[in-house]
Amino acid sequence: MATSKSSKQKPKFPWRAALIVLVPLALASMVVTALAVPPESPAAKTGAQLFSANCAVCHGANLQGIIGPALVGLPKSQDNPQFLTHIISDGVPGTPMPAWKQRGLSDAQIGDLVQFIMYENLIHKAPAQADPTVIMLEQVKLIGIVLALLLIAVFALAQFNTSWVKRKRARRAR
Ligand code: HEC
Repeated sequence: MATSKSSKQKPKFPWRAALIVLVPLALASMVVTALAVPPESPAAKTGAQLFSANCAVCHGANLQGIIGPALVGLPKSQDNPQFLTHIISDGVPGTPMPAWKQRGLSDAQIGDLVQFIMYENLIHKAPAQADPTVIMLEQVKLIGIVLALLLIAVFALAQFNTSWVKRKRARRAR
């Protein structure tokens, strides 16, 4: 009974083998995602609180811009600590943007705000404006996904092919 395998038996999808391939792939993609989105630093977290208390009225809770301009998707000239520190400390005279140093924010608090804005830009900005590291990580992720799909396809094809060859051999052996 054990040897009487019917040659008409349909090939079974190799679930166990597929799991062996898929589980490591899933883990790998999780690692890549974790690498691509760096964790928010404590400074950025404090900055987020300062931002909702002082800036969200004009720049929007999601930095999308209201009275003041959007602070995500900043061009490279502005997405840097020097520019941000300067503009937050000294404001923009002649516009509603206040000088926050005069308004009582400390250098440390302004530093936290800068970290927060830069973090938001790191995770939300359009790829075209992203810095090279972010673009690279994005590409690594894409390549990883494509490779994973290719691997799965090759693997599945190989499985079906083997079972097809087996069936053919069995047919010939009859
Ligand atoms: C009363 C409204 C108002 C508040 C409150 C405000 N801003 Fe602004 N902000 C503006 C306006 C208006 C501009 C645009 C100034 C200009 O025309 O160059 C601006 C510009 C900026 C810019 C430069 C953006 C760019 O693209 O040039 C930054 C950075 C900024 N604000 C950060 C902050 C931060 C951080 C806070 C909170 C601590 C804050 N703002 C609070 C109104 C505000």
